[in-house]
Amino acid sequence: MYNNNPTLTGNKEIDEKKQGEVFFQQKGSDKPNQKKFYIESYGCQMNFSDSEIVASILNEINYAPTRNMEESDLILINTCSIREKAEDTVRKRLRIFDKVKENRPGTLVGVLGCMAERLKEKFLEEERLVDMVVGPDAYRDIPTLIANAEDGEKGVNVFLSREETYADISPLRLGTNGITAFISIMRGCDNMCSFCVVPFTRGRERSRNAFSIVAEATDLFQKGYREVTLLGQNVDSYKWKNPESEETVNFANLIEMVAKVSPDLRIRFSTSHPKDITDEVLHTMASHENICKYIHLPVQSGNSRVLKLMNRTYDREWYKERVQSIYNIMPDCAISSDIITGFCTETEEEHQDTLSMIEYANYSMSYMFFYSERPGTLAARKYTDDIPLETKKRRLNEVIRLQNQISFKNNQADIGKTFKVLIEGDSKKSDKEFKGRNSQNKMIVFSKKDGLQPGDYVQVKVFEATSATLKGQLV
Ligand code: 5AD
Ligand code: SF4
Repeated sequence: MYNNNPTLTGNKEIDEKKQGEVFFQQKGSDKPNQKKFYIESYGCQMNFSDSEIVASILNEINYAPTRNMEESDLILINTCSIREKAEDTVRKRLRIFDKVKENRPGTLVGVLGCMAERLKEKFLEEERLVDMVVGPDAYRDIPTLIANAEDGEKGVNVFLSREETYADISPLRLGTNGITAFISIMRGCDNMCSFCVVPFTRGRERSRNAFSIVAEATDLFQKGYREVTLLGQNVDSYKWKNPESEETVNFANLIEMVAKVSPDLRIRFSTSHPKDITDEVLHTMASHENICKYIHLPVQSGNSRVLKLMNRTYDREWYKERVQSIYNIMPDCAISSDIITGFCTETEEEHQDTLSMIEYANYSMSYMFFYSERPGTLAARKYTDDIPLETKKRRLNEVIRLQNQISFKNNQADIGKTFKVLIEGDSKKSDKEFKGRNSQNKMIVFSKKDGLQPGDYVQVKVFEATSATLKGQLV
């Protein structure tokens, strides 16, 4: 999943004011000699989750988070390389940081994440005011890089590890609503989709110790959190071997272990890969009420030839069969998708196959993009990016229009139904309303009642629906 808006939090939905409040409650900023860091995150949820690991590492060396970059000693930007636009946004932000640095000499600027990994030393040549460049597997080195930068020595660490999972680091939750949190369960990706830069920026796939995941979930539950989202580029290939018992924990086993932390702790996960999602996972989901009935299952394209070029290793029929299996095993499950339009050599007919797949799968929502060639990827090396930009955009608009219609129809069908909702906080529009999600990950807004608070589960009956939100009332 992808987010192009900078926030200090892993959750796009939290309003700005709230973030700040929780932020400062979390860690006192009045310790002697305490310094301040400011961090912005772009890209996928994994990146937001990584920023919380970085925050924890910084906390250990007496840095406290601030929401005001003007007063910070260290400005960090956790970057994304997935599309050219994401990188353009980061460069624009760096211009702003340069100004802060001019007004406040001594402030250090660090570039983290995927763009750091992609550009490495080149970053320091291109962006003169950057002091450190740190790839996704090198965050433990940040204290050393800071110390060197304080001595005027710029540093780069973009070493990609085969083992690093940060399993022992307890993330410092940034801008949290105190109810929902992300847990990173694996890192990297071995899939080599031809359009994707991730295998190059995040390295080889590795799974985190299952017990450390359960321990993190338990700790969050004890602190009042009621929902965890297990994160990985391809969660269905999660595999961890217990060195003591030699037993292997697969993804179905893992979600079951986390589900058993408490029936009041909801489990979500992202992202599932159509080639790897098993019926075992689906049956495990079905047999635990607290594992949410929602699967993000990116199709990318609905056409078998294009899927082959994309190196997705499944075809249209395979994907349809997986969708059928999901709906057979969990008739109330929602499915969402990622879609790319205008991939190399895609014809109009092949584009139509993507449209018909949106209808077939009846996606509750999708993240939709036009193809953006990324240097170094398989597609950049092997194929010509030959679809004109206007065509890519026109196809994208067709995909968006259809998805909106399907989402609207899908949401209209929820009118009259009653859902169990986890209250996350005030709605965006009014402090007289709460918002929360149902199991299917749909946001429902409803009027408050005395005695209820975020973290409570309530039954809400839907009476109104747009393509984006549901409105309901407590029952
Ligand atoms: N161009 C456009 N979209 C891309 N994605 C990944 N790489 C590219 C690219 N080069 C999309 C895919 C992926 C999502 C995170 O971003 O749909 O699932
Ligand atoms: Fe996440 Fe991929 Fe962007 Fe890296 S390039 S931040 S893995 S979406």
